[in-house]
Amino acid sequence: MDKINVGLCGLGTVGTGVVKVLQDHQEHIKHKLGCEIEIRKVLVNNMDKQRDDIIDRDWLTNDPSELVEAANIDVIIEVMGGIEDTNKLLETALKNKKHIVTANKDLMAVHGQKLLRLAKQNHCDILYDASVAGGIPILRSLSDGLASDHIQKIMGIVNGTTNYMMTKMTDEGLAYDSVLKEAQNLGFAEADPSSDVDGLDAARKMTLLANLAFKMELHLEDVNVTGIRNLTQEDIQFAENLDYTIKLIGIASMHNGKAEVSVEPTLLPKDHPLALVKNEYNAVYVYGEAVGETMFYGPGAGSLPTATAVVSDLMEVVKNIRLGISGNTYIDPQFDRQLKEDHE
Ligand code: HSE
Repeated sequence: MDKINVGLCGLGTVGTGVVKVLQDHQEHIKHKLGCEIEIRKVLVNNMDKQRDDIIDRDWLTNDPSELVEAANIDVIIEVMGGIEDTNKLLETALKNKKHIVTANKDLMAVHGQKLLRLAKQNHCDILYDASVAGGIPILRSLSDGLASDHIQKIMGIVNGTTNYMMTKMTDEGLAYDSVLKEAQNLGFAEADPSSDVDGLDAARKMTLLANLAFKMELHLEDVNVTGIRNLTQEDIQFAENLDYTIKLIGIASMHNGKAEVSVEPTLLPKDHPLALVKNEYNAVYVYGEAVGETMFYGPGAGSLPTATAVVSDLMEVVKNIRLGISGNTYIDPQFDRQLKEDHE
């Protein structure tokens, strides 16, 4: 196969970043893969909207079947968000033997396990590294780099919006509402920012991390969540006076074979590695039985960091197509077992 054809669903902050990364790094990507990647169709809501110059207007369509049912599309990149309709769209794509790359943590936290099984049944890849901690390759690191270990604990800052807000509230004494607005203007916050401030976005990401790390089937309802909506300048100043800082921390750990997952504002000593993570940056601490302590740090939101993760997943999918070993995702033993049960 000399060329891999892509259908891109969504042309917002991340979708535009994906087009940019594919164009700006075209030569390097082609050299690494030994084939070209071409965007053939882009699914958008509004065909008339003014777009960046890098977008070819011939790509645009508002008809999903031109992507998910088209014979000339090999891979679907889904960066449009949404849960139920998007799930149906991706199910159709998988049944039509399209490989999937998605940045959609909301969808993966709710329907991920079914989609992973459907992908396996159809010998398709489904990769979603961009859905957790944007530019940090954390899902890939857990599934590949630390594959030989038993992960026992994950602790992290996995929501860029709230970390940005809390940094500005702490370091610059700014008010909650004005920093939320800034985070929205910078493109970090969700369309409905209550997912960020109420901790739901972080809870979804912690569910995905815990399921991958512990080979479990945890659901969002299994996570204890408290957001930062009620955090005040007084709370922040109180912590400061004690030489502590407040961060929204997700924790997933194993206790006697049972996983416990939570997201809550947490007091950290100011010299704690997670206390030093500022602005929209994310960090994930991983404790493995053999490796001990490791820490991953990087931008957790934004157009190009998230697009980098999407395009790297796309490159993995292309490598698998070329090697004839499609049907992969980050999780395996659990789904191999489940798949067997489904067939029995
Ligand atoms: N709203 C999310 C965040 C975007 O702030 O982390 C990236 O998932």
